Amino acid sequence: MNGPTTMTTRSTTAVTAHTIDPDDIGHNTTDSPSFDTLIAARLSRRNLFRLGVGSAASAMMLSACGGGNDSDPVVDPTPTPTPLAFNFNAVAKSLADAVVVPAGYTASVLYRLGDPITNDVPAYKNDGTDAAATYDRRAGDHHDGMTFFGASSADKWDAAATARGLLVMNHEAITPLYLHPTGQTAVGGVRTVAEEVLREFYLHGVSVIDVKKSGTTWALDKASKFNRRVHTLTPMTITGPAAFSEFMVTKYSPNGNATRGTVNNCANGTTPWGTYLACEENWAGYFRRVTATDNAKRSAKELASFSRYGVAGTGRELWATVTPDTEDNFYGRWNTEVLGASAVADYRNVSNTYGWVVEIDPFTPNSTPRKRTALGRFGHEGACLGPVTVGKPLVWYMGDDAQNEYLYKFVSTKNWDAADATGGLAAGDKYMDDGKLYVAQFKADGTGVWMELKLGLNNITPSYAKYAFANQADVLINARHAADAAGATKMDRPEWTAVNPKNGDVYLTLTNNSARALDTTDAANPRYYNDPKGAAKTAQRGNPNGHVVRFADDNRDPTATTFKWDVYLFGSRSTMAKDINVSGLTADNDFSSPDGMWFSQAASGLVWLQTDDGKITDVTNCMMLAGLPGQVGDGAKRTITNISADGATTKTQDTIVGAAPTSSTLRRFLVGPVACEITGIAESGDGKAIFVNIQHPGEEGTSATDPTKFGSHWPDGGTARPRSATIVITKDDGGRIGA
Ligand code: FEO
Ligand code: CA
Ligand code: CA
Repeated sequence: MNGPTTMTTRSTTAVTAHTIDPDDIGHNTTDSPSFDTLIAARLSRRNLFRLGVGSAASAMMLSACGGGNDSDPVVDPTPTPTPLAFNFNAVAKSLADAVVVPAGYTASVLYRLGDPITNDVPAYKNDGTDAAATYDRRAGDHHDGMTFFGASSADKWDAAATARGLLVMNHEAITPLYLHPTGQTAVGGVRTVAEEVLREFYLHGVSVIDVKKSGTTWALDKASKFNRRVHTLTPMTITGPAAFSEFMVTKYSPNGNATRGTVNNCANGTTPWGTYLACEENWAGYFRRVTATDNAKRSAKELASFSRYGVAGTGRELWATVTPDTEDNFYGRWNTEVLGASAVADYRNVSNTYGWVVEIDPFTPNSTPRKRTALGRFGHEGACLGPVTVGKPLVWYMGDDAQNEYLYKFVSTKNWDAADATGGLAAGDKYMDDGKLYVAQFKADGTGVWMELKLGLNNITPSYAKYAFANQADVLINARHAADAAGATKMDRPEWTAVNPKNGDVYLTLTNNSARALDTTDAANPRYYNDPKGAAKTAQRGNPNGHVVRFADDNRDPTATTFKWDVYLFGSRSTMAKDINVSGLTADNDFSSPDGMWFSQAASGLVWLQTDDGKITDVTNCMMLAGLPGQVGDGAKRTITNISADGATTKTQDTIVGAAPTSSTLRRFLVGPVACEITGIAESGDGKAIFVNIQHPGEEGTSATDPTKFGSHWPDGGTARPRSATIVITKDDGGRIGA
C-alpha cells in the first residue's frame, strides 16, 4: 500500500472556541516549592507460582499500567537482546476528518458510542431518539483509558491470549450536543427532560466487552456473559482507611461504606490479579453546591476541603435539578448541599465518595466495584502498576491532573505472593486497602524525595494552618491538603504514568500549564514561553505544549523514598526556538500536550504517546507517537532561557534533559479526526493488534441538527453525528505493531 491509509476522509469544518477543560482550572493556591540494570529474570506467571512466596526476592516480574496485558506477569523467561526498530514510516501532521495510520497498517472501527453490547438492544440510530432505558447496554461516550485482558477458552484471565480478550475501557465524559434530539434541554438552569438525564447517567463509567478475532477481523461478541456496563448508577463499596468514617456518611450509606456510581473515569490501571482500575478525575464539577446558600452551613474545614477540590457551582450537567425526585434521590444525590437535619438525611458528604481509584473485576460480571481509599482522593488520572516482585510490596504511580498538582505513589503493606494472581477483588482487599501514600518532591539537582502522607508526619497534623487533619481518613480524603503540607512539587498537570518494562523507569506526562509563570518555573517544570497560534498568532503562554518527566526510584526499588529524574521530552512545534523546542523535534515527531502514555509489553521498550491538544491544532489534529527511549540520566544538565510576556525580562532555569530523540527513536504513528483526543491504548497478547480510543471527535461542533456544523462526521461519514470510538489497528503483513 502506498501513502498513508485514511479511514473516513471528510473536509474539515470550521470550529469555534474550545470547550473549557475542567483540568485547566487550578485549585492549588498553596505556596509550596514547585519536581538496564534492573533486569532481573523475566519470569512467567507459572514460574512465579513455582517459586512461591519469598523464594524469589530478586526475581522481578515486570509489569505496567494501563493498556494491554500489562498486568499479566507472563513474559518470556529470557531477556530480549535484539534492539527494537520502528517498522513504519512517520505519518505527517493532518487536519483531515480521518484517522491516518502509516502505509502497511489498517485501522478499523470496533466499538462506537451507542453500539449495543447485548443482542436485545437495537442498533444505535445516532439521532438522539434511542430509548434511554437501553443505554445501560450500549457503549458509553468519550472512550478513554483501556486494558485488554486476554481470555482463555475456559473464560479465565490469560494474558498470553492473542485472539480473544475482555476489553475494558473508561467513558470519561459526554458531548451532550450529539446525545439528544436537539442537544441538552435546560430551561433556566433546570434539566426538564428526565430521559436525557438518564441517557447521560448511563453514558459515563466503564465498558467491559468480550472481543474476538476471526481471520484478521476483531469484533464484539454480543452474546458474551461478560459484556457489562458500569456507570453512575452502579452500586459501589468503599474500602480502606476512609471507609466507615464520618466523612463518608450519606443518606444512601449511613455507615459510610457505599456509594452509587463512578464518573469522569479518565486513565486506568491494572493489578497483578487481572482486575481493572478506573480512576475518577474531574468528578468535582458534577456536584451541585451553591456557595451563596451552602457556605453558611459549613465548617471552616469543610469549606477548605471544598475549595481545594473545586466543589462549587450548579453541577456541569445540572443533574440535581430534575423534578420530581425519587425517595432515594435519583437526581438529588448529585446535590452536595446541606439540606436535611443531619448527614444521614442528605448528600452533604457525597462528593467525598468520589475522587478515588475504583477496582472492577471484569471476569466476575456481577461483582460490586470497590473504591480503594488508601490510594488517596484527588483528580486521579490513572494508576500505573510498578514492577512486581515476589516478596516485595506492590506499587502504583498516580498523577493528579489539574494545574500545579502533584505526583503520588502508593506502596502496599503486604508483600506480593504470586498465589494471589487468581485472587480477584479479595486480592485487592489485601494489597490496596492498606499501605503508604506518598507525594513527590522534585529537587533542582535531579534527585527527588517521596514524602509520606500520614497523620503526624511532614506537617500533616491537627495544627496545620490550612487544614486541621483529624485522622488518617481525613488525610486520605483531603490528600491534596496533606500533599501541600508535605511540600510537594507543583507540576504542569500530571496525567498518565507508565513504567518501562526494560528497566523500571517511570514516565509521567505533564500535559500543559497555562498557570506556569516566568517566576514559578523550577527544574522539573522549567519552561515559560509563548506559542502563538494560527494566523492571528493568538498568545498561548505558560507551558502550553507540556513535557514528559521520567524518574527511577533509587536502587531500582519501587518502594524507595528517593529517586532520580530527568525530562524525557518537551512538546513543541518543530519550528520554535531551541529554548522552547528543547528536544529538537522535527516535522515527523513534533507534538503538544502529551496525555495518554503506555509501554507495550509485547515490544518491550516501545512507548506510545498520545495527545489531548488544543494548542497546535491550527496545524494538526491530536496524534499518537511511538518512542524508543533510553533511560534516566542518558542526557545532561541544561540551562533554558525563558522570556517574559512583554519580552523585557529574561530568566534562566537549569534543568536536566534526557538524550535528544532522533527519527529512529521518536516517530508519529497516527493522527485522529477533527477536534478529537487520542487516549487509551491496549494490545493483544502478541502485540499484533492494538486498540486505540478516539475521544470526542467534533467536540467543537455548534449544532445538534445541522450537519454542516457538527465539526466532524467521524467515524460513520456522510452527514452523521460524530461518535467517540475504539479502533483496532493491525499490520497488513500480520506483524507486530510499531517495532
Ligand atoms: Fe482526563 Fe487529565 O485527562
Ligand atoms: Ca487524560
Ligand atoms: Ca487531558
